[in-house]
Amino acid sequence: MNILVTGGAGFIGTNFIRHALAVRPDWRIVNLDALTYAGNPANFEDLAPEQAERYRFIHGNIGDTSLIEQIFSEESIEGIIHFAAESHVDRSILGPEKFLETNILGTFRLLDEGLKFWKNMGRPEEFRFLHISTDEVYGSLGPDGYFTENTPYDPSSPYSASKAASDHFVNAYFRTYDLPTLITNCSNNYGPFQFPEKLIPLMILNILEEKPLPVYGDGKNVRDWLYVIDHCDGLIKVFEQGKPGETYNIGGGAERQNIEIVYLLCDLMDNRLGRFGKKESRSLIHFVADRPGHDFRYAIDSTKIKQELEWSPHHRFEDALENTVDWYLNHMDWVNSVRSGDYRKWIEINYQKRENG
Ligand code: NAD
Ligand code: TYD
Repeated sequence: MNILVTGGAGFIGTNFIRHALAVRPDWRIVNLDALTYAGNPANFEDLAPEQAERYRFIHGNIGDTSLIEQIFSEESIEGIIHFAAESHVDRSILGPEKFLETNILGTFRLLDEGLKFWKNMGRPEEFRFLHISTDEVYGSLGPDGYFTENTPYDPSSPYSASKAASDHFVNAYFRTYDLPTLITNCSNNYGPFQFPEKLIPLMILNILEEKPLPVYGDGKNVRDWLYVIDHCDGLIKVFEQGKPGETYNIGGGAERQNIEIVYLLCDLMDNRLGRFGKKESRSLIHFVADRPGHDFRYAIDSTKIKQELEWSPHHRFEDALENTVDWYLNHMDWVNSVRSGDYRKWIEINYQKRENG
């Protein structure tokens, strides 16, 4: 099967491609990625020769319709798994326009090219367009309740608003044109290859380097953490067995307050680094100005995917977090290669502003 993956040089896409090449020996994967600050093509340098033969990287933008058209026919694409996006809420607050360009316009162009190609091929029934989305489209929960597939959309940030818009277009292409689409809305992922602007890798590296640990607000916001490989298993199930036109929520069932995560990481790292007594990393915690429009709590009800597709997360949060810490400690070359000049500029802009209120 020939599959086009978009955004496959980013965090989840990289894990997905590496995992899928290993568990689906009959898949050939073409990875189209624009290589923004978040994409790293070197993530595939160590593929085994047999897997490397079934993998092709193409540097390009999902909004480039002639390139997409060329890839579809040249590679005889039979399915699309669409990860490419601008994905960081804080960046969307400081510069929303890129989020509209990639997440809305880019998704629309990919859908539209997909539709043309699918029609030209004679509307094959088994073709799939899987759109990867987020639980953030549902907005913020109070202390109780869960997001189901029927929860009304109520996004808070420019990021989640742009993802919500893209989800609506995906559904519109199913209802209006019959394109066999699927949507997954998942909770916060963690694991190897995550760009160190997101909470978990940022904290791991700041602890390592004894830098302040910037906790937004009072640290009591809650996220539902999903290990990236459990997510990838769910995506393969949805792609292969999901019903076109449907949405599937995917959650880790591991709700934690941000401050709990930071405490856990401090303790894990102290253990690894032999940091005890006065030098304990918890002393680096620094409460800073909150994120505007900061959603209080996300929590997913995964009943549908569990019952209909027999998926469930297999990794225990504390164990997978420990593996993640070890991955970063053992891959400092990777970390240093992604922390370019641009990255340092971002850290300065985002955190200096918070320090000054
Ligand atoms: P990421 O930011 O790590 O990676 C995004 C990738 O997309 C990068 O490789 C980037 O170069 C590429 N890209 C960006 N704009 C592009 C464009 N115009 N054309 C082609 N490629 C482009 O993101 P991620 O964390 O891997 O997230 C992947 C998807 O999953 C996104 O759609 C995101 O909304 C969704 N998601 C992520 C999480 C999470 O916790 N990370 C949770 C829920 C949903
Ligand atoms: P993040 O990893 O950016 O994911 P998202 O905003 O998509 O959930 O943030 C996770 C949580 O951690 C969120 O509640 C914001 C908080 N956070 C901090 O407290 N400090 C930080 O430096 C970052 C990046 C996030």
